[in-house]
Amino acid sequence: MRIVLVGPPGAGKGTQAAFLAKKLSIPHISTGDLFRANISQQTELGKLAKSYMDKGELVPDEVTIAMAKDRMSQSDAENGFLLDGFPRNVKQAEALDEMLKAEGMKLDAVLDLEVPEEEVVKRIAGRRTCRNDSAHVFHVEYKKPKSEGVCDVCGGELYQREDDSEATVRKRLEVYHTQTEPIIDYYKAQGLVVTITAMGKVEEVTQRALEALHPKDDGDK
Ligand code: AP5
Ligand code: MG
Repeated sequence: MRIVLVGPPGAGKGTQAAFLAKKLSIPHISTGDLFRANISQQTELGKLAKSYMDKGELVPDEVTIAMAKDRMSQSDAENGFLLDGFPRNVKQAEALDEMLKAEGMKLDAVLDLEVPEEEVVKRIAGRRTCRNDSAHVFHVEYKKPKSEGVCDVCGGELYQREDDSEATVRKRLEVYHTQTEPIIDYYKAQGLVVTITAMGKVEEVTQRALEALHPKDDGDK
C-alpha cells in the first residue's frame, strides 16, 4: 500500500507509523526524521533544514521534494510506503502525484489523524525523543520508557526536541493550518481521504487506522 499520514504536530503520526509500517510490511518514511538524521550527521542539508525547523517553518520545497524522492526510490519502497510529514503543502502533493504517475503508480489512501489542539499541546510538552533515531518516541506520562531518560529500543539518550518549545509549536500549528490542511481537500477531490480520531490509547488508534485502511490480507501491498 502507498499511504500518506496527515495530522497536526503531536497528533501521533510517528507513533502510529511505527506500528502501521510493521503491520503492513512497508517502510515508514518521515521527512522530519530524515532531516533530523541529517542534522545529527552535520550535513549541508542538515544545516539548511535546522535553520527552518528551529523556527517551526517548512524547509524549502525543492530540497524536501528531492530528499523524499530519493528515499522513495530505494528498493524497500518498491511495493509501498507510509509517508509521515510529506507532502506538507499542495506543491509537494502535486510533485508526489507526478512522481507516482511517472512510475505508473498511485496512492491508496490518505489517513487523516484528528486531535483537538489542547491534546496536541499535552502530547508535545511531554514528548521525549531518542538522540540516535527520532523515530523512537516516548512520553513522560502516556508512553514512559522503562528506564527514565533512556530509549527502550536502542538505549539512546532521550531528549526534548528543539522545535518542541511553546513558541515554535504555536508556529508549527499555524503552518499546519495554513499550508498543510489544504492538502486534505486536494486529496478529498481524489477520493483518498480517510479521517479517524487519534484520541484514546495508542493501540486503539492503531486498530482504528487498520480498520479504516482495510488492507487486504492476500499479500497485496
Ligand atoms: P515533523 O518531524 O514531521 O514534525 P510534526 O509534523 O510537527 O509532527 P511531530 O513529529 O511533532 O508529531 P507526530 O504527529 O509525529 O507525533 P508523535 O508520534 O511524536 O517535522 C518537523 C519539522 O521538519 C517541520 O516543522 C519542518 O520544519 C520540517 N519538515 C518535515 N517535513 C517537511 C516537509 N515535507 N516539508 C517541509 N518541511 C518539513 O507523538 C507526540 C507525542 O504524543 C509522543 O510523546 C507520543 O508518545 C505521544 N502520543 C502519541 N500517540 C498518543 C496517544 N494515542 N495517547 C497519548 N499520547 C500519545
Ligand atoms: Mg513525528
